[in-house]
Amino acid sequence: MNEHTKASAGGCPFSGRGATFSALYHEGLWDELAEARQEEPVFFSQSDDYWIVTRYDDVMSILHDHEHFSAENTSDSATPMHADALKIMKDGGFTAEKVQSNCDGERHQRIRDVSSKVLNLRAFAALEPKIREFVNEALDRLEGRDTAELLSEVTYELPARVIFQLLGIPEEDMEQVKAWSGTRTTMNFSPSTYDQQIAGAKDMVDYWQYCVNHVKERIDNPRDDLASKLLEIRGGDDNVITLNELITVFYGVAFAGHETTTTQMTNALRALLTYRDQWEAICADPKLIPQAVEEAFRYCGAVIGWRRRAIQPVEIGGVMLQPGEPVIMSFGSANRDEAQFPDPHTFDVTRKNARKHVTMGNGKHVCLGAPLARLEVKILLEEITRRFPGLRLIEDAPVSHVKTFVFNASESLHVRLR
Ligand code: HEM
Repeated sequence: MNEHTKASAGGCPFSGRGATFSALYHEGLWDELAEARQEEPVFFSQSDDYWIVTRYDDVMSILHDHEHFSAENTSDSATPMHADALKIMKDGGFTAEKVQSNCDGERHQRIRDVSSKVLNLRAFAALEPKIREFVNEALDRLEGRDTAELLSEVTYELPARVIFQLLGIPEEDMEQVKAWSGTRTTMNFSPSTYDQQIAGAKDMVDYWQYCVNHVKERIDNPRDDLASKLLEIRGGDDNVITLNELITVFYGVAFAGHETTTTQMTNALRALLTYRDQWEAICADPKLIPQAVEEAFRYCGAVIGWRRRAIQPVEIGGVMLQPGEPVIMSFGSANRDEAQFPDPHTFDVTRKNARKHVTMGNGKHVCLGAPLARLEVKILLEEITRRFPGLRLIEDAPVSHVKTFVFNASESLHVRLR
């Protein structure tokens, strides 16, 4: 990042805001973003080394502008990887490529066309009975108890059990794959130390090799799962999708398909229990649940910041960006933009336009798993309100958050069950 380009942005390149702001989730973030939306909607954050874009309209325009912005940096490690960590990955045969969320243009369209033949509404809808069964199995374990920690006991495992049905990952591998996914979250989306990167690189090699072996096994023994179906669509033709791209798609979904949904479920429950009248409203009228799901995606979306990089000179929110300059689209801020959502800091399960949130992106890259995520959160809310209408937040339980600018992810949700 060169000083000249930042200085060419118009106003002071290092505003007071840019000198003190951090996009990492912290208390007070919403207030700081609200102030920025009014006073300086696009500013350069020195500690993050990114431009921060706060208004809904600007975020939407970036999401739809593929001429001036690239998505290639969406999953880059938040702290650039040390050469020693890169060597571990190279020596371990880690050959994941940029596919799906972090590639552009025709390549992105080609790979999305292939994966959406398997990851689509029909496939997700067919999972509904399984999701309900898994939710109820998790809730059965809470029966007769006074208190629970819902993240570790319910929401951590649920989305993984669901997506692993599609992926054909056996239940006995769940703990391991979840652990690798956690490491991947840290590597890609949180600041990391040298030691974390070295340990993380080893984990990523193991995770990648697990995916390679899984896909290769399906070449010889096809089943009714994602890798087998993608292999069939590929039909041995690299022009459709190469084997390495296909393995990377599998590697991607084995991560994207559950981490965020876990967080979204936890956040939705916390918001509903914090604003108890809203909880009581959906208990009394379950028809409100789909709307409540959307409002939770808006008010406390799992993804609060998503990246892009300018590839052409482009003006955004009155600031001129130069090619190469990286941007965090603050989804958390866009979702609370008063110009789009009246009274944005109120959690209101009857809000009419909640579905306009950007928590799952928008445009060509919009989340391919969005219908599944919505379905999972909806079923969880339907079953938990039916079975535990007396659920209450234990308000004095300490809550810590993962240190990341990408997710709004708390590390526990303590409740009273009756
Ligand atoms: C609450 C849950 C989820 C959230 C908040 C979420 C969020 C996102 C976001 C922000 C993007 C990037 C959108 C963009 O750049 O415009 C994305 C892309 C993607 N998500 Fe999700 N996601 C969730 C669940 C899922 C699930 C369950 C799956 C798998 C079934 C999934 C698979 C994908 C894929 C494959 C992409 C890449 C799409 C593309 O670039 O073409 N996600 N998601």
